[in-house]
Amino acid sequence: MLRQTLLRARFSAGRARFAAAAALAGGATALALQQQRTSSVAQASAAAQPALPEFTRAEVAKHASPDDCWVLLDGKIYDITPFIKNHPGGVEKILLAAGQSVEPFWALYRQHLAAPPATPKEHVAEILGPLCVGRLSAAEAEADRLATAARSPDDPFRDEPARHPALRQLSSAPCSAEAPPALLDGSFLTPNALFFVRNHHPVPHLDGATYALSVGGVGVAGGPPLTLDELKALPRTTVVATVQCGGNRRGELNAVRKTSGNAWGCGAISTAEWTGVRLRDVFAARGLGSADAAAAAGVRHVQFEGDDGVKASVPVEKALSSHGDVLLAYEMNGEPLPADHGYPLRAVVPGHVGVRNVKWLKSVTAAADEADGVWQRGIAYKSFGPAVTTLDGLDVAAAPPMQETPVTSVILRPAAGALPAEAGATSLEVSGIAYSGGGRAIIRVDVSADGGRTWTAAELGEGADQPLSKAWAWTLWTADVPLPPPKEGGGPNVDAELVCRAVDASFNMQPASVADTWNLRGLANNAWHRVAVSVPPASDDA
Ligand code: MTE
Repeated sequence: MLRQTLLRARFSAGRARFAAAAALAGGATALALQQQRTSSVAQASAAAQPALPEFTRAEVAKHASPDDCWVLLDGKIYDITPFIKNHPGGVEKILLAAGQSVEPFWALYRQHLAAPPATPKEHVAEILGPLCVGRLSAAEAEADRLATAARSPDDPFRDEPARHPALRQLSSAPCSAEAPPALLDGSFLTPNALFFVRNHHPVPHLDGATYALSVGGVGVAGGPPLTLDELKALPRTTVVATVQCGGNRRGELNAVRKTSGNAWGCGAISTAEWTGVRLRDVFAARGLGSADAAAAAGVRHVQFEGDDGVKASVPVEKALSSHGDVLLAYEMNGEPLPADHGYPLRAVVPGHVGVRNVKWLKSVTAAADEADGVWQRGIAYKSFGPAVTTLDGLDVAAAPPMQETPVTSVILRPAAGALPAEAGATSLEVSGIAYSGGGRAIIRVDVSADGGRTWTAAELGEGADQPLSKAWAWTLWTADVPLPPPKEGGGPNVDAELVCRAVDASFNMQPASVADTWNLRGLANNAWHRVAVSVPPASDDA
């Protein structure tokens, strides 16, 4: 009972965290504004503090461990090492900002800030005051300003949107970025600023006022492209759905043998509340009724094309059935779509791999064939067995492209290598997410602290109440897992290999090993997720 109450408290804390993050009001824009405000305040306050020693950002970045941790705020540098253990949000969260500026993190965790003009709350300022050890070098601030001004006007990535610094950028041009596990943990809806980004080209800058979507193809009545206002006049629909890149967790596969593509960690997956118009309502407005009527007219696929040239398609049964819930979304978590996520309109194909969720939509077409292009017909989303290690002799066209994704789960907390519990702890609280494509609900998550020899059933949290065949979003879970005894002949620490595996409504279960899931393109790695941690013994055992 007490345990359930604690779990409920934890999940509501997650929702509260999202609410705080959502208050970011415009995500990256607010961030950029805050950074602007900060730099002017920084200059003023730096000028007022000539006696403080100066450090560059690179010097600050050298102090990024739990034993030696500096942060930057408002142009001043603080040695927060003595405070870390007292941080109410936990050691892992505060260390995300180690060696860098805390401002972008406080834009997410606004409980540090007083009401506008968003200066640190009094008690926060009191904690920081005595910890100040220097200020940012004025020369560096000026160098930053000049570097930004010097970007070539021909650079197609010149106007990329501001991105949250907590995102790990696998590539910046085009952008592939994922949130660290600690920031995904506990939030059912991912704040827009932390939602993973996967772009194949520069972000198109479209104007919502002049935007229009072409709707055409087999059985579709002709007509001019639909403006955003015309689309918004169709029934407004909201769907909570997870988007996951086909390459999520590719990094683990590379440890078996090199694959191609971004070496994602486990963060190329995020969940949002999407609002827009059903794709079937858009086609119905142009005379193409149900999925059955479309199929009778010869439609087999609905093709999407983005303004950046990315093309993908989904089968008509998914695209136009009432079960499929395919949306053309114009809002994400209650805000207009951010530029990185497809402003002003994107496809949301719940339960299907990320690439089918085409952003910056230019056209939707009812067709007899799949979309052209590498993302549909090429090797990019085709799967071959572990024996296939080169493209030579492959009949790529004959292999079906990835659509729905397999059951998966990951541990988000504790992080690998982190000190996961008090010294001498006999069990660990472990939490994460589980998700299966095709709307298959998660019915069970098993968690182990001994590499999969013994298992504890996790408590399913938010998301567990989704319909069994329409679970478009992930499910949060948490488990209190007993730790194994220290290994005989080993050191005094308990070295635990945490593992999780999920089961979906079709009783599909994750495979044990990455060697079994390895494939040339590094797609759909859903092997058991493993995190190694070490817990020191109680001091009197040491
Ligand atoms: N749509 C367009 N037009 N261009 C793109 O590069 N990337 C796809 C998909 N839709 C892409 C796109 C891929 S590979 C993924 S995983 C998802 O968008 C990522 O969506 P997100 O950036 O909103 O997380």
